[in-house]
Amino acid sequence: MVQKAVNLLTEAEAREELARLAQAISAANTAYHTLDAPQISDADYDALKLRNAAIEARFPALKRADSPTDQVGGAVAEGFGKVAHRLRMLSLENAFAAEDITDFDDRLRKFLGHLGALDYTAEPKIDGLSLSLRYESGVLVQAATRGDGEVGENVTENARTIADIPHRLTGAPTVLEVRGEVYMAHADFAALNARQSASGDKTFANPRNAAAGSLRQLDARITAARPLRFFAYSWGELSAPLAATQFEAIQRLKALGFQTNPLTILCSGPKEMLAHYLGIEAQRATLGYDIDGVVYKVNDLALQARLGFRSSSPRWAIAHKFPAELAWTELLGIDIQVGRTGALSPVARLRPVTVGGVVVSNATLHNEDYIAGRDSRGQPIRGGKDIRVGDWVQVYRAGDVIPKLADVDLSRRKDGAQPYVFPDRCPECGSPAHREEGDSVRRCTGGLICPAQAVERLKHFVSRGAFDIEGLGAKQVEMFFNDPTLPVRTPADIFTLAARDAANPLQKLKNREGFGDISAAKLFAAIEARRTIPLDRLIFSLGLRHVGEVAASLLARHYSTWDAFEAALANASPGSPDWAELTSINGVGEVMAQSLVDAFQNQGERQAIDALVAQLTVQPVQARGTVDSPVAGLTVVFTGTLEKMTRAEAKARAEALGAKVAGSVSARTDLLVAGPGAGSKARDAERLGVRMIDEDAWLRLIGTA
Ligand code: IVH
Repeated sequence: MVQKAVNLLTEAEAREELARLAQAISAANTAYHTLDAPQISDADYDALKLRNAAIEARFPALKRADSPTDQVGGAVAEGFGKVAHRLRMLSLENAFAAEDITDFDDRLRKFLGHLGALDYTAEPKIDGLSLSLRYESGVLVQAATRGDGEVGENVTENARTIADIPHRLTGAPTVLEVRGEVYMAHADFAALNARQSASGDKTFANPRNAAAGSLRQLDARITAARPLRFFAYSWGELSAPLAATQFEAIQRLKALGFQTNPLTILCSGPKEMLAHYLGIEAQRATLGYDIDGVVYKVNDLALQARLGFRSSSPRWAIAHKFPAELAWTELLGIDIQVGRTGALSPVARLRPVTVGGVVVSNATLHNEDYIAGRDSRGQPIRGGKDIRVGDWVQVYRAGDVIPKLADVDLSRRKDGAQPYVFPDRCPECGSPAHREEGDSVRRCTGGLICPAQAVERLKHFVSRGAFDIEGLGAKQVEMFFNDPTLPVRTPADIFTLAARDAANPLQKLKNREGFGDISAAKLFAAIEARRTIPLDRLIFSLGLRHVGEVAASLLARHYSTWDAFEAALANASPGSPDWAELTSINGVGEVMAQSLVDAFQNQGERQAIDALVAQLTVQPVQARGTVDSPVAGLTVVFTGTLEKMTRAEAKARAEALGAKVAGSVSARTDLLVAGPGAGSKARDAERLGVRMIDEDAWLRLIGTA
């Protein structure tokens, strides 16, 4: 997902995003801890927490009372001091298939404009917990856990008890932060558990938990009695570089006295990386400690610096995970859920089974082709085997925590089992369910007459990223939706609720079960408070297909006011100037543009939108960035051949400096950077009087020439 860099956020945006993040993280915590039904992957969860912490670090005054940073679930435990990492401790992008690795290599070479093979280090991914060790003038002064990546726990005393961690270094840079993994070997883990059960203490589920539980002991004497080990694989703050390459830097750490993994090698290109992956996988069972994949890192540190970081992980590294854990169970039934955009999503109801330590009772079945044994291009998957109710199916959990089905055991298929017939009518409203050309999903055509779609849209409308009305959550939306006296069927109804309640002499809301004087008044006040709404939130809240939060923000920033936005969409059609402008917004493609235009030109949708907007005061959204750079807030277009860097790198740099990069020239373009071979865009710029410069002038402008 494209998101605005934290250093580019305005205070208002930061406040809104913190509210959104608090809600998303709390929902993920509930799904994971309370409902045992995780909704997002660990990596996505980490990314949310990291971003939240980064925004809080930049705007400490905006930190919320319910900040996720202060909550359990990866947050800093009570009892340990906090340590703000001077350089964030990042996570890694995950890959599962060999193609992901060739894609990764292609992507990097493209980004760098590198024609030859790139060199990478390849090393085991240790399944423990990461630790950052700070040495000043060769003395270990602090050890901190990762925590949320920004702030960790101060475990200095505990770390000093680990034999692999030197207390003093000779010949190290004055400031050296060494990062690596604390882990427990299999034999030590088995012996510890035997001791624990002999003394009646709790045993640990796996070596990773044992390592984490042992390091995070408030009494360091307990840690000292636990057999922890440490591999160094990375670094944080440095007063002087360790080396010119990743491989040499690791050798330097080894020379300083750290344990480094002996299976770390240099590879040239994906073929060698994949060969090493298979080699490590073959040794996995006999290594004596848990690993869960192989990590590849670009070897040349100057290239690492050019590649930089995404929000929570470096562009220059990737974790190639070993295949996920699997289990067989029985498919008890297939349910169809109807989503906000009418998509009919089949869900497998399974006889509960444990997969990798988690009980799984449902799994996604994606769409009807998937059930029938085909992919989106009609090619067979699972050897063309379809899935039938009553089948024995293999369940897996990969990096993604929503379980999936990997295989079907035809030898156990029951006699008379029938192929699954995907409904061609919506199970909720009975409207025909159609599949558009090229779409893998069947959708209910009922629109707002479909109660499932209408309710889901209302839930989206009141969610935190959208109108975020306190006291009006999913549960209350369901209640009001089905309420005969005070119904809320469309977003506009929310804003007439108080007036309708006042006009109703009987059955006032305050007299209903679950409400009282105060809660009813509070709800009306919360609704009133949202009558004034920023444009980006309003656009997102409409819940249109393909228009997520990022797109809503791009659109709002481009059009600034509701009137401009609404007029453009009402008039746009492929080929028209409004359409050209809409699709010139970087991040807005034809598919999204069509979805927007469809909604604004459909009578029913239009009525609902107009009725809503009539209730609101829509705040314009500022178009300018806030970064202090000569190009902040400018809309820039690149065209022709760039000779000093690739388009992707140029774009990433420009955006990091607060510029907006657009795909085509319009009257709103501030600057065209034209390399040799520039054609129609240069002519457009000339015609529109847009300033045009060459690549060298651009580099001088941004201060890197
Ligand atoms: S490098 C900037 N190398 O995996 C890159 N991480 O899923 C920092 N991990 O948080 C990480 N073995 O705790 C790296 N050889 C290895 C690793 C490794 C295990 C852990 C680390 C990280 C997590 C990301």
